[in-house]
Amino acid sequence: MHISTFQIRWVSTAVMAAGVYACTAGSALADNILAAVSSPGHVLDVTVQLTGDGRLAYEVQRKGKPLIAPSRLGFILTNAPALDGGFSLAGQSVSEHDDTWEQPWGERRYVRNHYKELRVDVAQRSVNGRKLAVVFRVFDDGIGFRYEFPNQPQLGDVKIADELTEFVVAPPATAWWQPAGELLALEYPITKTPLREVGMANTPMTIRTEDGTHVAFHEAALVDYASMWLRKVEGQKLRAHLAPSSTGPAVERHGAFTTPWRTLQIADNAADLYMSDLILNLNEPNKLGNVSWVKPTKFVGVWWEMHLDQTTWASGKRHGATTANTKRYIDFAAKNGFGGVLVEGWNKGWDGNWVGYQSNFSYTQAYPDFDLKAVTAYAKSKGVRLIGHHETGGNIANYEKQMDAGYKLYASLGVDSIKSGYVTDAGTALFPEKNGKTHFGFTDSQEGSRHYLKAVTEAARYRIAIDTHEPIKDTGLRRTYPNWLSREGARGMEFNAWGNPINGVDHEVNLVFTRMLSGPMDYTPGILSLAGQKGKPLNSTQAKQLASFVVIYSPVVMAADLIENYEKYPGPFKFIKDVPADWADTRVLHGQMGEYATIARKDRRSDDWYVGSVTDGNARTLALPLSFLDAGRSYVAEIYRDGDTADYRNEHRFDIVIEKKTVTAADTLALKLAPGGGQAIRFSPASAAPTTAQ
Ligand code: NOJ
Ligand code: CA
Repeated sequence: MHISTFQIRWVSTAVMAAGVYACTAGSALADNILAAVSSPGHVLDVTVQLTGDGRLAYEVQRKGKPLIAPSRLGFILTNAPALDGGFSLAGQSVSEHDDTWEQPWGERRYVRNHYKELRVDVAQRSVNGRKLAVVFRVFDDGIGFRYEFPNQPQLGDVKIADELTEFVVAPPATAWWQPAGELLALEYPITKTPLREVGMANTPMTIRTEDGTHVAFHEAALVDYASMWLRKVEGQKLRAHLAPSSTGPAVERHGAFTTPWRTLQIADNAADLYMSDLILNLNEPNKLGNVSWVKPTKFVGVWWEMHLDQTTWASGKRHGATTANTKRYIDFAAKNGFGGVLVEGWNKGWDGNWVGYQSNFSYTQAYPDFDLKAVTAYAKSKGVRLIGHHETGGNIANYEKQMDAGYKLYASLGVDSIKSGYVTDAGTALFPEKNGKTHFGFTDSQEGSRHYLKAVTEAARYRIAIDTHEPIKDTGLRRTYPNWLSREGARGMEFNAWGNPINGVDHEVNLVFTRMLSGPMDYTPGILSLAGQKGKPLNSTQAKQLASFVVIYSPVVMAADLIENYEKYPGPFKFIKDVPADWADTRVLHGQMGEYATIARKDRRSDDWYVGSVTDGNARTLALPLSFLDAGRSYVAEIYRDGDTADYRNEHRFDIVIEKKTVTAADTLALKLAPGGGQAIRFSPASAAPTTAQ
């Protein structure tokens, strides 16, 4: 591609303006630009550059202003000199791609994938002419780039100690982030700090620059590679830090391979950030073919009662997973239209310490008071499916030995989805070795990435879908493997049962614009009793619990409360019965980082729309124009709103008003949210669809 003088001058000025790269900035840099590309609508511009000593760097401008100042690219290897410096251009090309693909399930049915791709091939003349390529896909709403390692004799085995990939944020920014590599892995509250005060962050990490631009840093298609953590180096410079391996380099590969995409979702506001499909678009298309056996479902389960410590996972007098108790949930599910019943604690291994390497679960043997065959047959007779459960306690070695037998057993009984769990401290999952030995490691290491994907692809052979708890972070692999239905990967509702602290009042609004950018979350909403262990109140109103079903997306969604609590609150429970788990479309109508979010979603199987709105500890009234509804059609709006006295800080958290209104697309509703509150609305057409002109 020809780089015009205009582009070169423009980049040079921008680098000077950024003023961050004092040592390399200046007009000389312009001579070192290897290639440049703009997004299809010219919102983003990327250049790839060589700095003075032949180091690779890239730079990003948005709407003509510097966003990412020149940032280094490269690798430190353990078995060869670093892929850093001494590079020269070996070739470059630009292409454009625009298509629309269909999701088998998801937040929206059709996804547009429109980007310009810049491929830059470089050779490291100083080290045997070793080759490397960096490929940028530049969308109007963000960027993905990855490295491609060709097959080359000079570097057959690639042993990566760490990446040198940097993200130097040009304008001052505030960050919403959680730590990486710490005890609780992905289950920390999200904190807000100036970007320069970030330590080692997990991704997605979202920042807002002083001019209001929002950027979420993450990765896409994490396959056979270590997770990327982000380490603050100095000022606003972040550097990739690969989750370590306990046995050698962070990543070991042989021959040709590509790294995961390093991603920046970029938008004018938080709402648009969530609307981005960039992570999915950077993943490979579905490799499983017809996946009609993957079924989005709402379910209930033998679950919250254990978290409340009313019953136990362990065997004994208080055992929760008995045949009788599970049948009670099956009856309740059948009566109320839920598709599934999860039952945890059914299998041997829960007695004693089941957390961590000492766990020794069986995936085929049930406790004597749980008759798996009878329960699955009973469920089937009621039109309900049992949702399987495989807790590993992080003992991956034990799990991999039995995984196939466990899947086979479930498949033979018609169980077509399994919730899995990996409860252990970060860094202490137990991995198998070929020689029968084991070693400890991080679940987000390269071998962790292999294990989680193996669990999903093996399950696919049995037409089983997976919902992973304590997972590796979501990087959009559901596009390629649509049986990877959901995962946890953040603090879920369980923290409200026993957490210290429990989830903060701003937890949901923080999740939407950070964790949820990566994909679905099995958050287990719907605690209408608003109480954890010993009656400790949740930081929520009842209406907010309902809104969470719309706001926190998961295609397998658990109505988590006890049966008796749903029976106690039939009014609000109706919304939980009605709300679907699969959507034709999604629109974010309001969004402010850490403050509030309103999301509208259209049901995949009807013309109904649902809206969920949540706020932090502050009351607020948001104007909700209903222009997302079909024009010329009237709808019945079933509104579940905070009552006038509602407040998460006192007993008025139960104050909810349920009312009906007839509305059209021309109307605007005022969403009045209480402190810690929310609102949930179902819109059902009251009149036939307007006929469209032919
Ligand atoms: C952790 C999961 O997140 C939770 O939902 C489950 O109940 C426990 N593990 C036990 O498996
Ligand atoms: Ca968990």
